[in-house]
Formats: sequence, C-alpha cells, structure tokens
Amino acid sequence: MRQPFFLKTLLVILLLVIFVSCEKKSSDPGANQPTSSDKIKIGIYYPLTGDIATFGQFGKKGVEMAVTEINASGGLLGRQVEAIYEDTRGQQQDSTIAVQKLINKDKVVAVLGESASTNSLAGGAVCQENKIPMITPSSTNPTVTEIGDYIFRVCFLDDFQGEVMARFAANSLKAKRIAILYDNGSDYSIGLEEFFTSTLKKLGGEIVAKEAYQKTDVDFSAQLTKIKGSKPDAIYVPGYYTQVGQIAQQTRKLGMTIPLLGADGWDSPSLIEIGKEALNGCYFSNHYNVEDPDPTVSNFVKAFKTKYNTTPDTTAGLAYDATNILFAAIKRANSTESKAIRDSIAETKNFPGITGVITISNARNAIKPAVIVGIENGKYVVKEKIAPVDKQDVATNK
Ligand code: PHE
Repeated sequence: MRQPFFLKTLLVILLLVIFVSCEKKSSDPGANQPTSSDKIKIGIYYPLTGDIATFGQFGKKGVEMAVTEINASGGLLGRQVEAIYEDTRGQQQDSTIAVQKLINKDKVVAVLGESASTNSLAGGAVCQENKIPMITPSSTNPTVTEIGDYIFRVCFLDDFQGEVMARFAANSLKAKRIAILYDNGSDYSIGLEEFFTSTLKKLGGEIVAKEAYQKTDVDFSAQLTKIKGSKPDAIYVPGYYTQVGQIAQQTRKLGMTIPLLGADGWDSPSLIEIGKEALNGCYFSNHYNVEDPDPTVSNFVKAFKTKYNTTPDTTAGLAYDATNILFAAIKRANSTESKAIRDSIAETKNFPGITGVITISNARNAIKPAVIVGIENGKYVVKEKIAPVDKQDVATNK
C-alpha cells in the first residue's frame, strides 16, 4: 500500500512543478514570445536634421503613410506595426549608432534607411553583421547592396543615373565640354563623377575641369573660377541640394550662364528656396514624376497632400515603396523571423510602386527607369523618361 501512495504523491508533485514552470514561462516578460497583441517593430534611420534634413523628413512621411495604412487595414499578420525613428543628422557615425540602437535595444525585425549612400554604407554594415534585413529607399551608390545578402534597395543605381545624364548632356544638350564639381567626401558624389565621366568619354565628350568641395563648404568661388577658365558647355554637380543651391548662386555671380547638371540628390523642396532663379535652365536625373497621371502615382500624391499639406518629393515616394515592399515580404513570409523576411524581400517581383514597377534582382537591386527634370521658372518640368539601359547599349548607342 505504501509504495503506490508514495508514487502517486510523487507524480502529483511532478505534474505541479511542470505546470507551474510552464505558467511562469508564458507570463515571463523576458521570454520574448510574440503574441497577437505584440507590435511588429521596424526601425528607420534617416537624417531628420542637418544639411540633408529634407530627405529624412520627407522619407519619414512616406514611411508613416504606409504604416498608417497597414495598421488601419488590420495590421500585418494580425499585429499592428510600430515604426521607430532615429535621427542620423546626416552623419556617418550617427548612422552606425542609430542602427545599433534599433537592432540591439529596440529589437526591430527589419531596418529602413538611410537616404545618403555614405550613411547607408555605415548602417548597412551593422545590419549585415546582425543579419537583420535592411532596405534602403534611396541610396543609389552600387557598393551599398554589395555589403551583403541582407541589404536591399528599391531605387536605381548611380552607374545608370550617371550614364543617363551624360547621354542627355551629349545628345540632347549637345554639351560635350563638361566641367565637374563634386563632393569628395561623399560616396554618392564620387561614384557619379566616375560614371558620368566614363559615359561622356564614350560619347566623344571631354571633361575640361574637375574640382572638389566638402559638404561643410559655403564658398565655392575658387573652384568655380577655375571652372570658368576651362570654358565648359555645362557643369556636372552630383551633390546634395544645400550645396547645389549655393553653387548655382555663385556660378551666376561669376557671370556663367551655362546649365548646371545634377542627379537625384538635388531633389528637395528646399532646392529652389536656396538656389532661386540661378537654377533656371538646369537639369537633374530623378526617380519619378509626381505629375505622372498613372493612378498609382496620382492617388498617392493626392493622399499625401491631404495628410501633410505638401507635395511628396522623391524621397517620400521611395520611402513609401520601400515600406510597402517590406510589408508585402513579411506577409508572404508569414513570419517576422529575419532570415524568412530576407528571403521573402529577395523574391519581390513586379511590385507596383509609386516610383515604378519594382523587381529585386539577384544583386538585391531594383532595375528601374529614370526621368530627366528641367527647372523652368522655378518649377520642375519632366523632359525625358529613360528606360533602364544596359552598359553595352550605352557604348554602342551614340
Ligand atoms: N541617391 C542619393 C544617395 O545615394 C540620395 C537621394 C536619393 C537623395 C533621392 C535625394 C533623393 O546618396
């Protein structure tokens, strides 16, 4: 009699211990088990202040719009999405710190950002190291996605963008003697200077002067005086809007009326405010046309204007697309596990974005068209829409 009773008691105690330990586990806040009431956290690092602040401010609006929309429609995998924003001040070091914080402290499942390529190179290295997927909405330098298999982008690349402008200069403007004024502290600017030059040369053009500046510069007259002496037909300035606006002003002050040519880094609501009429007759390559009558674009522009009382710029459109591509990937993966999200982003095909139809290539890039924007009376006018070209084509297509 004694033995079975002893065994029974032991069994009861054992069951109790198991039950209590299970209870404890599921209510333990450190267990990190997602329940349907937990939010899916995504991390965004952007320059919300500093000399490229409009990229971050407008990019943030684009992300916010996509987040508001998904949450209003019931969320993602039955959970609400929480976006956590970090300000990089447009600095490389701050970008590293911002991404470390988002991953280690906030435990985000994916990261979006930065805008400037130099900053995405810094933040991207942290994401790759931690195997957290990152999509940069707008960093166009080719090396960004070369960091590794967790780093994606939804915009075109600078080898394409540089070619596009060189072709426009040589073929449409008949400008073959070009001077270059570039930011030699920016991976973006350095890359574009090279890509533009190689295409221009293939098209029979010549770089008659090459001068550099730094983003802290405010006086560009020494470089511009040298450029003036080289008698160029146009000046290629692959920089960001704050310096471009000042360079345009100072170019006109020196009596040069030739066009300035640039790239997507010009695009900002502040460009014309800084450069004013000095920018009339100038051109830059960009990602999309806000006045495109295509309903995907016009509906977004309308909704954005209603929400923010301002027109979306390029960064806003690209950020909206990057966010929605991430959401679609999480949905397809039916998981918030980072490897599953990574694999699912890589499978993105024919996504109907604001900035074009997006398919992610094997190299984790998007192959997309570009537009050439002209500035006339302080307004943007789309001059040309250029389909993606492969490099072979540029060499033969004069
Ligand atoms: N393409 C730029 C870069 O890589 C950033 C940028 C994109 C800025 C689009 C404005 C608009 O640095």
